[in-house]
Formats: sequence, structure tokens, C-alpha cells
Amino acid sequence: MYESLIRPLLFKMDPERAHDLAHKVAPLLAFSPFHFEFSAPNLATNLSGVELKNPIGLAAGFDKNGRFVEFADRLGFGFVEIGSVCAQATKGNAKPRLFRLPEDNAVINRLGLNGDGAEAVAARLAAAKFALPTGLNIAKTNLPEIQGDKAIADVLTTFEQIKKLPLAYVAFNASCPNTHEGILNERQQLNDIMSEVQKQNVGRLPVLIKMSPDSSEELISDIVEIAREHNLAGFICGNTSLSREGLRTDAARIAEIGNGGLSGTPLKPRALALVQKVAKIKSASQQIIACGGISSGKDAFDFLQSGATALQLYTGLVYHGPTLVADVNRQLSTLLAQADRSKTTVSN
Ligand SMILES: Cc1cc2nc3c(=O)[nH]c(=O)nc-3n(C[C@H](O)[C@H](O)[C@H](O)COP(=O)(O)O)c2cc1C
Repeated sequence: MYESLIRPLLFKMDPERAHDLAHKVAPLLAFSPFHFEFSAPNLATNLSGVELKNPIGLAAGFDKNGRFVEFADRLGFGFVEIGSVCAQATKGNAKPRLFRLPEDNAVINRLGLNGDGAEAVAARLAAAKFALPTGLNIAKTNLPEIQGDKAIADVLTTFEQIKKLPLAYVAFNASCPNTHEGILNERQQLNDIMSEVQKQNVGRLPVLIKMSPDSSEELISDIVEIAREHNLAGFICGNTSLSREGLRTDAARIAEIGNGGLSGTPLKPRALALVQKVAKIKSASQQIIACGGISSGKDAFDFLQSGATALQLYTGLVYHGPTLVADVNRQLSTLLAQADRSKTTVSN
């Protein structure tokens, strides 16, 4: 029903207005008799010591301000991630800044980390009852004057605000392509930020780094080394991409859209390559949350086979609607059962 009736109507609207409408309608889920969910014992997993009923999470960006944590379970997710949350409230980049690429099942966004700011989000979350294990994604406030030591202080301000909340994990977003400085590729700064965060954290919350699928081999190995040095729990692989390779959408339309991070189906090969590279060099105890272009059980299975423990999606919801997570989980459960059977047959 979503793809034949609701999506055509939503796609007639400006993408950001449709997104705002989805935000207005989402709270109604709390009163809805519908619970789009598929459960099976073989979907359960453990992320940093937290039991998830299934491995599919809501990626950062949909619930930037922590407004949906009380009924996120209605869409069948196993966990959710709030954010990115920044120390200061900011409006983000000028509109238009969100674009659909229907021929590619993709989105380009350059929202630029708009949000209510850490104090407001922390107060909202402190008063909420989380329906699911909830992670929170922190980014540096996207203002050009916040650099160097100010950047470290800015991230710490947010961490201070949220560190006592009952969160499953904290992710540090080092990979937003829509900021003044682009992805954080300065080893020293990332090292200093993680060092200070871990000093304040004293091991209470698992901390992950969200990486870019555009990272060079050198940046990937630097980040994995920093994560090892500071005892981080793992990696989110990954964020949106600046690459426009292999798109079906007309090149003139792509040029007209301009800058921004690409998400959705075309991102999958790049996200998968990032997961494989990180899986090869990380410590055994560190975990990977894979993210990028997941919209089927096969996509989810491919990422788990490549070394991910949990998965996240966002753009797939725009194209496939509220039944997507249950569909992915149903297909994934079948694929996992088949893989298990063939393993047993081989070992017999
Ligand atoms: C509109 C939009 C806003 C996003 N905002 C954030 C954000 O604030 N922080 C972040 O870490 N990732 C953000 N992302 C990236 C997603 O969390 C995810 O990494 C990316 O979209 C790839 O997953 P997907 O292909 O399933 O959408 C955003 C993505 C979209 C489409």
C-alpha cells in the first residue's frame, strides 16, 4: 500500500516537507493498533553487552532531536540512534538541501547538522521512556569558528549533557560530509577528542566512531588505531558519500542538485567495502554496525557475513515505507536459517 498509494503522494511534495510530515505523523504510531514487526530467535544479537531482538537499527538523521524514542519499536527496529546531536542548536544549511533520486532509490542531503542542541535533546531524553535500546550520535557543532581546542570542548559539552542517560552506546560522527571542514581526517584532533571523551566517560558508555565510506586506506587504519588506543567499542560503517559513481539519474540533474551526501541503494558497495576493510584490522572485541543502502534481507545478510554485528538503515524507509524493517527481518531470518543448515550439512 505504501509504494502504490502513499509514496506517490509523498513524492509529489518537496522532500523536506515530506520529511517534516513524516515527523508529524510518526507520533501517531503510539496510538496505532499496527505494529510492523517480525521476530525470530535467530535474529537476536548482542551489541556492546546489550541484547537486541533483531539487528536492524534506525540510522542517525531521522530522529535528530530524540522525539521518537518512546514508540520506535512500532516499526520493528531492534534499536535506534538519535542525532547527530551538537552542543549548540543550529539551523543547518540553506534550503533546498534534501533531494530524492527515485531512479536510484537514493537521497542526496546537505542538511548540515541542524538540530535543537544538546541541552534540549538531553532534557527531552531524560523525561522519555525508551522503547528500544537507544544509541546517541554526537557531532561537532557545524560552525566555522569552532576549530581546534574549541572543537574538542564543543564535543565534550555534548558528552557531558548526555553521559548519564540510559543509552546503549554513544557514536561520534567523524564523517559528516556536509560540514565546513568535511569528514574529520585529522588524526591528532580525532585522537584528542576520543582521549578527552574517554576520560569523562570512565568506561561507562560504549563509544563507537562513525566513519565515511569515502575514507582513504590510511584514514581507515588511523581511525582503527585510535579506536584501539582509546578502548572504543567499535565502528559505524558508515555515513553518506560524496561519490556520484554509477548512478542512473541523469548527470544534468545530479549537477543541478550539487553538493551533499548520497545515501540509499548505490551506497551499498562502498559501505560493504568499508565494513570489510575495518573487519580485517579491528580488535576481536570491537563491533561493527553496518549502514548504507540496506533495503532487503540479502543486503542485511551480506553485511553480517562481512563482519557486522548490527545494521542500520534510513533511506530504504523513504522508498519502501513502514513495513520495510519487518520485511528485511523476515528475509534475513530465512537466509540465516539456510546458511546455518548448509553449515551443518557441510560439517556432517
Ligand atoms: C536526511 C539524512 C540526514 C542524515 N543525518 C545524519 C546525521 O545527522 N548524523 C549521521 O551520523 N548520519 C546522518 N545521516 C546518514 C545516515 O545515518 C546513514 O549513515 C546513511 O544515510 C546511509 O544509510 P542509508 O543508505 O540506509 O540511508 C543522514 C542521512 C540522511 C538521508
